[in-house]
Amino acid sequence: MKYVFKNAMILTMNNGDILKSCDVFVENGVISALGSLNTEQLQGAKIIDASGKLMMPGLINGHCHVPMTLLRNYADDMNLQTWLFDHIFPVEERLQGEDIYYGSLLGIMEMIASGTTCFIDMYDHMNELAQAVEESGIRAQLSRGMINTGDGPDFSADARLNETIDFYKRWNGAANGRITGAFAPHAIYTCSPAYINAILEEAQKYGAPIHVHLDETLVEHEDCLKKYGKTPTEHLYDLGVFGQKTVAAHCVWITEEDIKILADNKVTMTHNPSSNLKLASGIAPIPNALKMGVNVALGTDGASSNNNLNMFEEINLAALIHKGVNQDPLLINAMEALKMATVNGATALGMDNLGVIKVGAKADIILIDMDKPHLMPVHNVVSALAYSVQGSDVCLTMVDGEILYDNGEFKTIDREKVSFGIKKCYERLF
Ligand code: NI
Repeated sequence: MKYVFKNAMILTMNNGDILKSCDVFVENGVISALGSLNTEQLQGAKIIDASGKLMMPGLINGHCHVPMTLLRNYADDMNLQTWLFDHIFPVEERLQGEDIYYGSLLGIMEMIASGTTCFIDMYDHMNELAQAVEESGIRAQLSRGMINTGDGPDFSADARLNETIDFYKRWNGAANGRITGAFAPHAIYTCSPAYINAILEEAQKYGAPIHVHLDETLVEHEDCLKKYGKTPTEHLYDLGVFGQKTVAAHCVWITEEDIKILADNKVTMTHNPSSNLKLASGIAPIPNALKMGVNVALGTDGASSNNNLNMFEEINLAALIHKGVNQDPLLINAMEALKMATVNGATALGMDNLGVIKVGAKADIILIDMDKPHLMPVHNVVSALAYSVQGSDVCLTMVDGEILYDNGEFKTIDREKVSFGIKKCYERLF
């Protein structure tokens, strides 16, 4: 299918360029021309009138557990250790493939309706999660979260590690390349050094990237110092984890030295402001990390610690909280926050043809309806996106050149089937 967006105003995220009244030609899943198009290009293409709309690259959710939509508003107002060990893990034990499938579709609906076109996820029952990604048309990097139960040192029969390997072999590069895989040791407090070594050895064999939670709470930080005599970042660095391309979620308690390690090893840290605020984990030193050259992406985390998957809310928070806690209004400007949700997410995935509107880039595109009272007048597009736009202002979402969401309508997902499925899962689980 060929598409032409007519008369769009575009925030390209390519050197901050803003294009006015621009036509965008999409063919074979890629942006193949920008500017005023000739009649030959318009022939046979579906024309989308984008006047009055703002176009930007689709948002990249840098850390998520999408099936946790099932646990939305289930356990709130408690600390991370209680939340995770006393409430979340016991329900997760009971989850079945069907729960994951419907929970994922529900989360994907929420994401595409609020402008997210790609997400980086770690969870369980990954075949069902990948099936939801494949059917819905969204893009994702997926990994089976691993928590070790045995003592090792031989983990060759470890169920989770073997599931990870099987999943990677089956799904990495699937769905026209929309799905990629990763290896995910859950965290340093749920994985022993021997287990991390075993995971790493396999990840190296397949050239797979790593997705891990890192230094999320003060408890994790202090326990690690006590147990290993080093910070969680130093611990993973010494184990050799950062030799693989790594996305480290949270990094709330990282030190100046840790930031240097992350920058030197090109580790992406994912900032999850809502989740860190809600669980009172603290506020990650994002301004310093950016200053020292760390690639910082942005994420929602799971819907149970947020409690939604709305990336515009994360952009807004990322642009606000560092100003507040540091009493410095110059920290994390609107453009920096938008970069975290687009180009920096693409860097996390090692894709320079994502998170940007340019010729040759993947056609992962969103349109925002600017004809709203809370968005007028548009003095500054970048400010509007960071400070005024709501996720619900997104009116069209395209991934890989296909329209997934158009004015409230889901093109690839049967809304009623998902509602019915979710109700059924909810009744069995709770
Ligand atoms: Ni997480």
